[in-house]
Formats: sequence, C-alpha cells, structure tokens
Amino acid sequence: MTSLKGKVAVITGSSRGLGFAIAETYAQAGASVVLAARSSKTVVQAVDSLRAKGYTASGLTCDVSALDQVRALAEHAVSTFGRIDIWVNNAGISGIYGPTAHIPVERFEQVLRTNIFGTYYGSVIALEHFVRQGSGKLINLLGRGDNGPVKFQNAYASSKYWVKSFTMALAQEYKATGVGIYAFNPGLVDTEMLRDLEAVQSFESKLNPLKTVIRLWANPPTVPAQKALWLASSATDGKTGLYVNVLGRQQALSGLLRDLMRRITRTPAPDTTLHITSITPNFPLPEGY
Ligand SMILES: NC(=O)c1ccc[n+]([C@@H]2O[C@H](COP(=O)([O-])OP(=O)(O)OC[C@H]3O[C@@H](n4cnc5c(N)ncnc54)[C@H](OP(=O)(O)O)[C@@H]3O)[C@@H](O)[C@H]2O)c1
Repeated sequence: MTSLKGKVAVITGSSRGLGFAIAETYAQAGASVVLAARSSKTVVQAVDSLRAKGYTASGLTCDVSALDQVRALAEHAVSTFGRIDIWVNNAGISGIYGPTAHIPVERFEQVLRTNIFGTYYGSVIALEHFVRQGSGKLINLLGRGDNGPVKFQNAYASSKYWVKSFTMALAQEYKATGVGIYAFNPGLVDTEMLRDLEAVQSFESKLNPLKTVIRLWANPPTVPAQKALWLASSATDGKTGLYVNVLGRQQALSGLLRDLMRRITRTPAPDTTLHITSITPNFPLPEGY
C-alpha cells in the first residue's frame, strides 16, 4: 500500500466531498492531515470523524479567497505538526449555470475569487515552505473547462483553464527545486457540487442531461482520492509538471459498458436526483433565448 507515513498534508475545502475523501485517504496512508473549509461546524465534524477512526487530524476555518486566512492555515499546520509536506488546493465552487452577463456580478466574482485566488494564495504559501525545505508536493484541482471554453459555465470553466495554465507555469519555474507540482482533474465526482445546483431562471432544464452523465461516469470521491494519494506519494518524485485526468477514454468506455450491463441484468438505475435553485437574472433574457 502507498505510504505517506510521517508526512503532513493540508487539504483545502475538505469538510466534505472530494477534499474530505482525500484527507481520509492520506490519513489512512499514515499522514497527519489538516482540514479546512469556511464552515467551522463542518470542519469540526470532519476532523472528529477522522479522529474517531484513530487518524491524526486537525482543522481550521479558512476561506481560501482571503490571503490572511490561507497564511493562518499554513501556520496552524506548522504549529500543530511541525512542517508541511503536501498541499492540496481542492476548495472550489461551480457558481450559477447560465449566460455570463445575466449572472449577478458578485456571484460570478465569488467563483473567480475561490477557484483562482484561492489556488494562487495556497500555491505561493505552500511554495514558501516547500522551496525552503527543498521538497514538497503541491496538487491543484482542475475541472470541466481546463481544456477550453464551456458555455453557461464560464466562471467555473475559465477558472479551471487558468488553474491549469498557472500550475504548469509553476512547475516549469520550480523544476530544479525538488518540489513536485501537479495538475489534477478528478473526473466526475458524485458530491454536492454535482447535485446541488443553481441555474438562471429558464435554464434549469438545460441541466437535465447531467443526470445521464452522472449515471454513466460519476465516481464516488474515494476513486479520485486514490489518484490524489498516488500524486502525493514518492511514486511521483522527479515527475513535476504532471497533468492527470481521471476521466480518460478508458474510464469513459467502462462507464458505458457498466451501464449496458446494468440494463441487460435489469438492475435499477442509481439515483441521479438533482436539486436546482433558480436564480433571477441580472436583466431580462432576450425573447426565445
Ligand atoms: N464534483 C465534481 O464532479 C468535480 C469535477 C471536477 C473537479 N472538481 C473539483 O474538485 C474540488 C472539490 O469539489 P467537490 O465536488 O468535492 O465540491 P463540494 O462537495 O461542493 O465541496 C467543496 C468543499 O470546499 C469548501 N469550500 C467552498 N468554498 C470554499 C472557500 N472559499 N474556502 C474554503 N473552502 C471552501 C466547502 O466547504 P464550505 O462551503 O464550508 O467552505 C467544501 O468542503 C473542486 O475544486 C472542484 O472544482 C469536482
């Protein structure tokens, strides 16, 4: 089994979903883990649940879009566990689905502040530690849009495109330092992000195809968490600049085959319920749009 024994890992956005699964997987592999998210209640619950299983975990309330809070998170990790070896910029939000100019400005901006500035702050603060140490693993989360534009998901998709470019440039800049810098697209992960959605009024039904996509290709968070474990482990030593995407051709094909088998064996389809909240557009949509 891959070991992270003796390592200290900070995972942002880890009170639930993929971030929590990564924290648990790292803890299982022997790491001391530091969890963080905006809601203090859920951070405490997440830390308690890991400690109840005998893992070494600590937590801090942290909004990654605020530089001072990200700095405080790093200080918390060092004062609690003595050092930082792995930093995962996992915190991310998807924002409102719909045409860009019709989305309230502050909501569009919140996606950019979380996904772009959160990743930027986490990266530079982690690198301050890693470059001094001459070691460390920085993992930045990508997502839909990291390879090009996605209409009606412009804030999220363009932010992930930025994260990919930013991460690859960092990997080139710090190539000779002994620090590993990786871009990680976890594929489709069955979390709140995928199920709890917001759409501009009259765009709700455009999200229905997502049910089929979830049925065919969504993984439980434990699946990409194993890939994140591999990225954080010694297996990637000397391989800085990796871009890993869990949803490759092979996974896409096996999702189709699994669904075919399910139909043949008349197994009931998994639940793909979506919760969609309607958002009033900034200004009226054009007729027939
Ligand atoms: N789910 C997918 O299919 C999928 C696909 C590709 C990529 N990803 C990426 O994977 C990452 C995790 O997604 P997920 O599906 O696990 O999302 P999720 O279930 O919605 O969980 C998001 C986590 O981030 C925290 N968070 C949100 N905003 C934050 C902020 N400003 N500062 C600190 N923490 C914050 C949330 O807690 P609080 O709300 O309490 O802060 C929560 O712990 C994201 O970067 C996402 O883009 C997900």
